[in-house]
Amino acid sequence: MHFTLGLCRFSSTIVDIGCGCGRFAHHLRDYRFKSETFTGSTLVSTSTTKMLEWCRRNFDAGRFEFHRSTQASKVYGSGEGASSYYVLPMVDDSVDFVFSTSLFTHLLENDLINYCREGYRVLKQGGSMAMYCFCINYLPPTYGSRHTFRHTIGNAHVDRCRSPKQQ
Ligand SMILES: C[S@@+](CC[C@H](N)C(=O)[O-])C[C@H]1O[C@@H](n2cnc3c(N)ncnc32)[C@H](O)[C@@H]1O
Repeated sequence: MHFTLGLCRFSSTIVDIGCGCGRFAHHLRDYRFKSETFTGSTLVSTSTTKMLEWCRRNFDAGRFEFHRSTQASKVYGSGEGASSYYVLPMVDDSVDFVFSTSLFTHLLENDLINYCREGYRVLKQGGSMAMYCFCINYLPPTYGSRHTFRHTIGNAHVDRCRSPKQQ
């Protein structure tokens, strides 16, 4: 989809924040359309050491760089604090496309703002950013007590205050 929308090209440098087990890196590794193959590079960041190690073992280090985000996450429990100041390990103005899927859903406001700021910093002029998150306006009755978001922490609506997983 990002390719058809023109958000990235076959030679783009892409950053996937909160990459998990490299679901998108997996697609990009072999992505081709007609006679074109993705030859760009992907730099990804996650907060979980186990997934990071798995990704480093299973993707070509020449094309895929994996970094550990030290940004704290109460849900994933592996952050090291000072979350609002985590700096993506890329220089300014060096990336064509920054995205995340199902990451912002789990972040409190400061962390989210920080990733937006960092994403913007590393983007080249004319680059694009797309952050996907869980959105629901009207809860069907079948949801029971899940996804009520009845608590707030700052401007974030959360299900539980102690473990503020936002979905
Ligand atoms: C629901 S998973 C989505 C994984 C992947 N984006 C996907 O769509 O398959 C959320 C991911 O975000 C990572 N994560 C959570 N908090 C984070 C943070 N503060 N910074 C970076 N990654 C984080 C978790 O380790 C987990 O891999």
